[in-house]
Amino acid sequence: MRIDIITLFPDMFGPVLDGSMLGIARERGHLETHLHDLRGWALPGVHRQVDDSPYGGGPGMVLRPEPVFAAVREVQTMAEPRGTVVLLTPQGERFDQAHAESFAEIERLVLVCGRYEGFDERIRTLADIQVSVGDYVLSGGELGAMIVIDAVSRLLPGVLGGETSAQEESFSLGLLEYPQYTRPPVFEGMSVPDVLVSGDHARIARWRRSQSVERTSRLRPDMLESARLTNEERALVARDATEAGMPQDEETR
Ligand SMILES: C[S@@+](CC[C@H](N)C(=O)[O-])C[C@H]1O[C@@H](n2cnc3c(N)ncnc32)[C@H](O)[C@@H]1O
Repeated sequence: MRIDIITLFPDMFGPVLDGSMLGIARERGHLETHLHDLRGWALPGVHRQVDDSPYGGGPGMVLRPEPVFAAVREVQTMAEPRGTVVLLTPQGERFDQAHAESFAEIERLVLVCGRYEGFDERIRTLADIQVSVGDYVLSGGELGAMIVIDAVSRLLPGVLGGETSAQEESFSLGLLEYPQYTRPPVFEGMSVPDVLVSGDHARIARWRRSQSVERTSRLRPDMLESARLTNEERALVARDATEAGMPQDEETR
C-alpha cells in the first residue's frame, strides 16, 4: 500500500513512521509512505503563503485553496493508481475500525492535513472522504493522519506476526478484546485465571468469548447493537442488563 501525506509539518512523522510496527512494515515493503510539504505549493512570493484571513472576519488563518488543490493534483500524478483523498477534519466521519479495514483494502491513500483555523471550504471538494479521529479539536491533521496510518497499516497482510492478531482485537469482531495475561502467574495477589493455564484450548476460546461479550456489555453497551452474538449470548447480556437496572433497547430485549 502507498500512503501520500500532504502536510505543513512533515518532520512530525519521522519517529512514528520509522518506529516499531510501521518501520518494519515499510522496511519489508508492505507500506510505502511519501511526505509532501504543502509549503512546496505555496503562493509565489517571499512569504511562501499558504493561508489567509477568513472572509467575514474571525480569529486565525485559513488554508487557501490554491496550494492544497495544486498539491493534491500534483501528488496524484506521482504514482498509479489515483489515491483516495482523505481529508483530516473534526467535521468528518468518526474514524473507526471499519474505516481502517476498508482503507486497508485500498491500494493508495492521499492524506491531507489541515492547520490553523482549518480549510477554505472549497478544499472539501477534493476529498473522497473526510474523517475525524474524535470529538475534540487538534492543532493540525498530522496526529490524526498518524492514527489513520497506524490503524490501517497493522491490518495489511503480513504486517502483524500472527495472521489472527488483528482479527481478534477489540472492535474487529464488533466486541472489545478479552482480558490478556502474561507472566508472572501471581502478581501482588492478583492471579491469572486458571482456565488460561489449563491447556484446554476449547475452554480457553469459550472463556475469552464470554469475557469479550461481558466486557463489551459493561464498558461499551452501544457496540452490542451491531455485534454478532448468539441467541444465548444476547439472553445473557439482557439478563445482566436487567440485573444492573440498565435500560434495554428493542434489539437486546
Ligand atoms: C484547529 S483545527 C481547525 C478546526 C476548525 N476550526 C473546526 O472547528 O472545524 C486545524 C486542523 O486540525 C485538524 N484536526 C483537528 N481536529 C481534528 C480531529 N478531531 N480529527 C481530524 N483532524 C483534526 C484538521 O485538519 C483541521 O483542519
